[in-house]
Amino acid sequence: MCGIIGYLGERQATPILMESLKRLEYRGYDSAGVAVIETGDGTRHTSVTKSEAKVDLLIAKLKENMPTGTVGIGHTRWATHGKPTIINAHPHADCHGRISVVHNGIIENFAEIKAELESLGHEFTSETDTEVVPHLIEQYYKGDFLLAVRKALQRIKGAYALAMFSLDDPELLVGARLNAPLVVGIGEGEYFIASDITAIIPYTKKVLILGEGEMAAVTPLGPEGSTLDGQPVDAKIVHVDWDVAQAQKGGFPHFMLKEIHETPEAAANAFRGRMTDDGLVNFIEFAISDDHLRRYHDVRLLGMGTSLHAAMLGEYVIEDWAGIRARAEDASEFRYRRPTITDETLTVVITQSGETADTLVGLHQARERGSLTLAITNVVASSAARDSDGAIYLHSGPEIGVASTKTLVAHLVTQYLLALRLATAHGRVSLERREELARGLRELPDKIRRVLDNSTDIARLAHKYSRFRNFMFVGRGINHAVALEGALKLKEISYLHAEGSSGGELKHGPIALLDPDFPVVAVCTESSTREKMASTVHEIVARDAPVLALVSEGDGSLDDIVTDQIVIPAADEATSAVLSTVALQLFAYHVANELGRDVDQPRNLAKSVTVE
Ligand code: F6R
Repeated sequence: MCGIIGYLGERQATPILMESLKRLEYRGYDSAGVAVIETGDGTRHTSVTKSEAKVDLLIAKLKENMPTGTVGIGHTRWATHGKPTIINAHPHADCHGRISVVHNGIIENFAEIKAELESLGHEFTSETDTEVVPHLIEQYYKGDFLLAVRKALQRIKGAYALAMFSLDDPELLVGARLNAPLVVGIGEGEYFIASDITAIIPYTKKVLILGEGEMAAVTPLGPEGSTLDGQPVDAKIVHVDWDVAQAQKGGFPHFMLKEIHETPEAAANAFRGRMTDDGLVNFIEFAISDDHLRRYHDVRLLGMGTSLHAAMLGEYVIEDWAGIRARAEDASEFRYRRPTITDETLTVVITQSGETADTLVGLHQARERGSLTLAITNVVASSAARDSDGAIYLHSGPEIGVASTKTLVAHLVTQYLLALRLATAHGRVSLERREELARGLRELPDKIRRVLDNSTDIARLAHKYSRFRNFMFVGRGINHAVALEGALKLKEISYLHAEGSSGGELKHGPIALLDPDFPVVAVCTESSTREKMASTVHEIVARDAPVLALVSEGDGSLDDIVTDQIVIPAADEATSAVLSTVALQLFAYHVANELGRDVDQPRNLAKSVTVE
């Protein structure tokens, strides 16, 4: 996600903000900005400088016209609401430019708050969700900035890490967080607010960690922590001894592992603000009426690699929940066929980067044939988003590891929401079923956390299995795509041979490969074909191949049959498919790491394949 830095101290703020933003660049971003309180001749104003591109451009602008002042905030933006432009870049301000705010996260109820504030006369300049924050604080401000911030934050739903100041209280810097990280760095006579320890590590190793729903009021006397409603909280101060590289990876040895640990957040961000408790789905960026959606009786999902596997899971749930014909297609093949697409076809491109060449050509061809097109992508204003009739964003934040992990999870959740949306529009889902599916999605982040808690056990199994050179991954029904993705993840980062098969297809050829040196990873978690999958496992065991089975908690039926098991929390089949996917990402990571591979940048691969 975005990067945040705030400074209050005795030194000039601008050079510190510039250096810190440079250190936050590794996270990926599209625009940047700073705001500094300048005082002189008895007046005070905020100097705001922004760049619609790189931090270097921002620094060049700042060097030309360096703001002087000892309090300031800075931001690197990864667009979520609105394109990467100067106007949408942070910091954002209230109507009179007195309150400045930088934000990381998603404000779920911004549309409602914005409408209310507009009716009270507030004027907005950007397309962002963030801009409601300074305006809401302005609305509540009656001479006490901190109190106004508290009142505003109690109205805001969603996820935020915020740093903000007001010209009316120039020795106060405020930070607050909910579902997004924020720390306060404590130096000698100076204080920092940052989304990420990386930003402040050269200045201090003494860090106050804010808890969920907590805020910090930072003055020259130091930080004071409190809850949003003003109850004091005990400061949790830690000493970090990471270097900059370790800090960028959040203390994880690789970006891939860090990003796997971000999958609970990615899942939550994908449904945040889009689903009611009774399973009604509303995509703000793709607002389309039920009547309009009912015109589409055929859904094509185009993607490549991991995104193709995501599309296969999308195909499964759209057919199962909405009863609509759905087909996942390899975009590189689709482009050379004469696809039977009509104006009753909804074509959905699944692409985290939004720049995959084959997927884009497929998208253009579908459009030419009269299909309604929709991009599901992580990158705002990417080619896929621009060239489609509509776009739904993953809101996962940048993914740096070449292997897709958290964006895959977000793609799955987003397609589950799309399936629910289609099922509702076509009148194919009961209220009870909708509630059940919505509950499953809401419980997903916590269940993924439980898979991650089992990481040591998965690492132990990876160590054991890393001596093999060939792997077969098998699944049925919804888990067929999970198995294919498990094999892809393992082969791309470990360079071991791994292939995937459906349980049924196995005995039509691939089973010939199996022997005691050719293990099978069998996805036997909850699914409508769970019993069939158990029969497949018996067939494999009869060929003396070692079996590592993924099973749902409480299912002991394979205990005496398979060689090893990875147990995932019990859940419905769609949720289980996500949990198994995360478990297999961890398995692949640990095997590759065991073999000393370059996990974040595997050989021959690129993060975004922009050529055919
Ligand atoms: C595998 C991986 C690739 C991508 C594929 C499509 O881990 O990352 O297989 O999934 O290149 O990329 P996007 O989603 O950007 O279209």
